[in-house]
Amino acid sequence: MAVRALWYRRGVLSVLDQRALPGRTVILRLRSVDAVARAIRTLTVRGAPSIGVAAAYGMVLAHRQGKYPPAQAAKLLGSTRPTAHDLFVGIETVRAAWEAGADVQRAADAYRRKVVDECHAIGRAGASLFARSHNVLTHCNAGALATVEWGTALAPLRVARARGARLFVWVDETRPLLQGARLTAWELAREHIPHAVIADNAAGHFLATGEVDAVIVGADRIARNGDFANKIGTYEKAVVAHENGVPFYVAAPWSTFDPRRASGASIPVEERGEEEVARIGGHRLTPRTSRSRNPAFDITPARFVTAFITPGGVVRPRDLARVLARRSAPQ
Ligand code: MRU
Repeated sequence: MAVRALWYRRGVLSVLDQRALPGRTVILRLRSVDAVARAIRTLTVRGAPSIGVAAAYGMVLAHRQGKYPPAQAAKLLGSTRPTAHDLFVGIETVRAAWEAGADVQRAADAYRRKVVDECHAIGRAGASLFARSHNVLTHCNAGALATVEWGTALAPLRVARARGARLFVWVDETRPLLQGARLTAWELAREHIPHAVIADNAAGHFLATGEVDAVIVGADRIARNGDFANKIGTYEKAVVAHENGVPFYVAAPWSTFDPRRASGASIPVEERGEEEVARIGGHRLTPRTSRSRNPAFDITPARFVTAFITPGGVVRPRDLARVLARRSAPQ
């Protein structure tokens, strides 16, 4: 059955608690903007498009509560995670409706539908790249959990498979929070898509031995020149793919593109708590006196990207600025 990461009905945002997967299926019912902000901060809801949609409904709950003016609700939600551009698009979409006196729930519903439709379009646009048998490597989770439905990186694989492609997916475990091992593997297992989870430091080996035909990842923010932020570890996969002549694709809806950033140098990179590195599942791994560092994302330069898979089609990095300018030009 298709996965849905979250849904909204009558003043309640229901979210699949991504911290509990794959062991337990837990649905949390969020009734306030504060609860939504907490869920985003703690990665209960995660993945750039999903947190954008959650934040849009967070604004709807703030409007119902009447506790915060729109600017304050936007600030609360916007302070949760700095890197994903989608978060701010979701917030600003509903804030504009609120300030214009329009129907805020209608605005959030339309935003959710747009994200889901764009992810499906990414699937159709990218599927032909995987039409023949392909061993594909992915990093983190860019499936339905991260995008409400369909996924970004997983959408072309889903559509290609439905069209008859024979695919095998290498799943990077994605330390420190193991989104690959826990979440991508869970999604692929549900759909009986052949896959194997590998330690993050094994990806270079499989890229070098010819066992990976293509890499596909999602993104949290893409600058005008094609530099992009994604889960920590993406950069090194892109460099090793390039070194071995393996195509490297980045799949994203329009809300992930940030044309106001000229390059990746100005993309804010979230740094999370040391505990996420020092512990796994509550067990301490490191000596108590050892410090850790925990950047949640890294920036991959555009020169390592073969193509972006967008809802409008496959775009080469050299064409991206022109495509984005055309989209923002008045029609
Ligand atoms: O910290 P997370 O789990 O929210 O990070 C998510 C990622 O880095 C995903 O790859 C990205 O959001 C793309 S989602 C389709």
